[in-house]
Formats: sequence, C-alpha cells, structure tokens
Amino acid sequence: MIIQPRVRGFICLTSHPEGTAEHVKQQIAYVKSKGKIENGPKKVLVIGASTGFGLASRITAAFGSDASTIGVFFEKPAAPGKPGTAGWYNSAAFEQEANQAGLYAKSINGDAFSDEVKKQAIELIKQDLGQVDLVVYSLASPRRTHPKTGVAHSSVLKPINQPFTNKTVDFHAGVISDISIQPVESDDDIENTIAVMGGEDWKFWIEELKAANVLADGLKTVAYSYIGPELTYPIYRNGTIGKAKDDLEATVPVLNDLLADLNGISYVSVNKALVTQSSSAIPVVPLYISLLYKVMKEKGIHEGTIEQIQRLFAERLYTGAAPALDDKGRIRVDDLEMREDVQAEVAKLWEQATTENLEEISDIAGYRNEFFHLFGFNFSNVDYEADTNEVVEVPSIKG
Ligand code: NAI
Repeated sequence: MIIQPRVRGFICLTSHPEGTAEHVKQQIAYVKSKGKIENGPKKVLVIGASTGFGLASRITAAFGSDASTIGVFFEKPAAPGKPGTAGWYNSAAFEQEANQAGLYAKSINGDAFSDEVKKQAIELIKQDLGQVDLVVYSLASPRRTHPKTGVAHSSVLKPINQPFTNKTVDFHAGVISDISIQPVESDDDIENTIAVMGGEDWKFWIEELKAANVLADGLKTVAYSYIGPELTYPIYRNGTIGKAKDDLEATVPVLNDLLADLNGISYVSVNKALVTQSSSAIPVVPLYISLLYKVMKEKGIHEGTIEQIQRLFAERLYTGAAPALDDKGRIRVDDLEMREDVQAEVAKLWEQATTENLEEISDIAGYRNEFFHLFGFNFSNVDYEADTNEVVEVPSIKG
C-alpha cells in the first residue's frame, strides 16, 4: 500500500516500514562510527525497546558492544491494509540488521507492567542467554494496570497547587499561543502518575529477575529521567510527572540494596530533552525543544537519542570506573543542555518567540522533521509515492 503521514495533533497515525528501517539504519551507522565500547554489556534486556531512548539503548548495546539483546515493548503489529506502529517496524528493522550482523536479538510484544510479560522475559533469558548483565528500563506510558491490585492507573500532566500559564506551540501549524493548565484536583492525580511512571515497576522487574536467578554478577540497571529548565518546572519537574521521576530516582538506593549480593548497581541517567512520541505530548515542551535545538545546533553540541545513549554507555556506564554522579546520585548526560550559556540563550529566545518569528529564531523545522522521522517519514531516500509492503514481521515474533 502507499503510506502517507496521517497526523492527529501530537501523534501520527501511520508509520512507514522503509522509512523507519532507514531511521534504524542511520542510528546503527552512528554507533558503528564511534567504534566499539570496551568492556560494554554482552547480554542485555531492554524494557521499552522499540522507540526513543530504549531503541537507542538496544542499538548501542548491539552495535557498539556486540551484545545479545532481548527487547520488550507494546506495539501494534502490521496487518494487511493496516500499517503497524513505528515501534513495530523499528523492531523488525533492528532484528533484521542484528541477525545480518550475527547478533542474537529477540523481542516480546506485550504489557511490560504485567506479571505475564515478566515471566515470558525470564523464560526467554533462561532458555537463550542464561543471565543478563544489563537491564535498561525505558518505559513511557500513559497508563498502567497494576499487576497486584488490578487497578488501572492513568497518568496526568498537570501542575501541582497553582495553574500554569505559558507559551506553547502547535508545531505543525507553527502557531504560538498561551496555554493555561489547571492544577491537580486531588492527590489521586499525583498518586496515579507515580504508579505509572514512578519506580515501582522497575523494582518489580529487578526483584523478579533476581528471584529467577537471571541477573549476572556485576549487573547494571539504568532508568531514564529528566529535569529541564526552570520555565518548564511547573508542568514537568515540579508537576505530576516530576513527582513520578522523584519516585523513580528514589528507587535507586532500594535496588542497590537488592543487588548488593550480586555486586550489582542501579542508576538513573538524566537525559536531554528530545523529540520522541512521549515528549511531543507534553504542553510547552515542544517550543522549548525547538529553541534548544536551534541554540545547540548553532553551538555544534546538538545530540539526538542515539548520540545521547552512545555517550551514556561509552563515557559514563562502561568507562571501567564508576561514573560521576550529581549531588542526588544521578548520572547526567543532560550536561550540554543545562550549560549556562545554552540556557541563557534559550531563555532570551523564549521571551522573544512569536508566531511571526518562530521559523527564524527557533528550529521548529528541525522539530517537525524529527517528529516525522519518528514515524519513518521525511527521508529523502525513501519513495513515499511507491507501493510498499506494510505487512512486515518482527523476525523473532513471527508465527
Ligand atoms: P518513547 O515513547 O519513545 O518510548 C517508550 C517505550 O515504552 C516504547 O518502546 C513503548 O513500546 C514502550 N512501552 C510503553 N508502554 C508499554 C507497556 N505497557 N509495555 C511494554 N512497553 C511499553 O519514550 P522516550 O521519550 O524514549 O522515554 C523513555 C524514558 O526516557 C522515559 O522514562 C522518559 O521519561 C525518559 N526521558 C525522555 C526524555 C525526552 O525528552 N523524550 C528526556 C529524558 C528522559
């Protein structure tokens, strides 16, 4: 079928199999161009492996360190006349490339919050790898059914205590407007967001993997967090999602206790703001990202997900020494984003930004381009007028 983008707000309903494969190949090429990561991971479980930072982690482990990878994700498979989701096609392309390179790669498509998928992952590790030496936790989800209580929790993106008004952008139309977001009405919103995006499920994974004896001695596990600039604090770091990130970060010492007898260690890495399916859903953040991209590109310090994760592995997690941590015990690869000169320039541009000057003072064009890339569109070497086979299988899930 001929697949064109069908955009509804901050999501694209269609994805292109050849375009997503091109996106995966470009990320693999970047990792290979950086050379091998010495003493990198060898057997890796990535939870949330199909898009964004999780996909970049899987690619970096496989192609930077020849690792065997098991990826867990929740994606819609392709069916005749119905393209699959981008994460489905990404995973198909990743596995094909890994197989061609002689690397083990298998995937599980299902709800990572469930006990069932945890059991499946454990069985697969036991059967094929024995144990894993790295577990990457990179889920981003709007909801979670709690495996013990059965309660369905939905996360919300709201400020706490006070309403928040600021600029936001419709990045397709290029229109800036003011947005006012009302604060949470009760603590339930905070509790639900923590239940979805906090650290409990990460802990459940590590507990169950450990109990099944599938964690290697010296295991590392890492989850991803975000801080960002003060201007997004009310909606991000001091809002409901920030409370969930506080909870995720507070899980690190708990996991370190749990992993002590395996000489294992857990980390949270604070990453840079980037265009992903999750971040485009947060009000205010896309305008910040498009100004940030402009400033960082001009300074020659821009990074995408793959550059961030390659640097995390090569210069933080696998240097042979313990990584430097901030005063709250976190790894920082948002160091370039948070540089004073970068933040000062973004803050100045933020004040100036209007619909009229947006194309000129921001990298809204780059934002849009990356948004379309997430779904496999806007690649110059893919013919979007041509018929393409939409029914692409993920090799390890086939049949
Ligand atoms: P993403 O939306 O690109 O990826 C989310 C992944 O989770 C996908 O593989 C998806 O299939 C999987 N997933 C979602 N629900 C699932 C479920 N129930 N079961 C199994 N898999 C499921 O998100 P992104 O942006 O890569 O986020 C990953 C982590 O990085 C999150 O913790 C996020 O807060 C964090 N982060 C994101 C930043 C950004 O700017 N995008 C910045 C810093 C941290």
